[in-house]
Amino acid sequence: MITIRRRGSDVFELFDRMAPHYWLSDALSLGLAGRLRSRAAAALSLDGAGAVCDLMTGGGEAWDALDARLPPGARIVAVDASRGMLINARRRMSRLPGRSIALLDRDALEWDVPEGAFDGVLCCLGAKLVDSGDQERLARQVLRMLRPGGSFSFVELTIPGGRFLPGIFRAFLGRIVPAAARVLTGGEHGFVRLIGYVDALRGGLSPLASAFEGAGAEVRLESLMGGCAQILSGKAP
Ligand SMILES: C[S@@+](CC[C@H](N)C(=O)[O-])C[C@H]1O[C@@H](n2cnc3c(N)ncnc32)[C@H](O)[C@@H]1O
Repeated sequence: MITIRRRGSDVFELFDRMAPHYWLSDALSLGLAGRLRSRAAAALSLDGAGAVCDLMTGGGEAWDALDARLPPGARIVAVDASRGMLINARRRMSRLPGRSIALLDRDALEWDVPEGAFDGVLCCLGAKLVDSGDQERLARQVLRMLRPGGSFSFVELTIPGGRFLPGIFRAFLGRIVPAAARVLTGGEHGFVRLIGYVDALRGGLSPLASAFEGAGAEVRLESLMGGCAQILSGKAP
């Protein structure tokens, strides 16, 4: 049995191990992961934005989607606490030479965030890694870093409803992705743990939505891909 600990070094060490092979999960999604990031970035209100935070940026996989939406002079501040993923992100920076991007090695929950510094906060595929007991804390951190009226958007994989889809989705994440990792990269590198995190995100992004609402934010929760993903977007009070 795999122990799920969604706080601190356990998660960061997992992503350090996965980092050299993280491209695989994107490749196996057949473009769907990229489309989810684009949808999440599109849910932000970025007209006239000066700075956006890409929280749990990983290797900067969402930057193209952000870049397409941001005004030319706007800055991306990308935050992650996995050194391995930050190495990937540093490599990606050269692909966007015209965009100002700052990389920060910080734990999103512990970070002493710059208050009101951002017009938008994007978080792609990171919410499942935050313990249910810390979802309120995550919402508070995001609202602290946003200017009044600033927008936020989270996208996450979720277990769909229905009779067959949950089984197919679990088999894809829990068996096909790890098996493909073994065949294509010679090791499993922790990919088998991803399904555990998605499973543990009970209620998908609803608890996070309630935490934002409880803090006075406007929220909108959308289900995508037959319930296999959700986007939570909204505005700070
Ligand atoms: C599944 S990856 C997603 C990466 C990228 N955003 C994407 O769209 O593919 C999740 C990332 O969140 C990071 N992460 C998880 N919990 C974190 C936390 N508390 N603080 C900072 N980064 C965190 C991990 O290190 C990992 O790089």
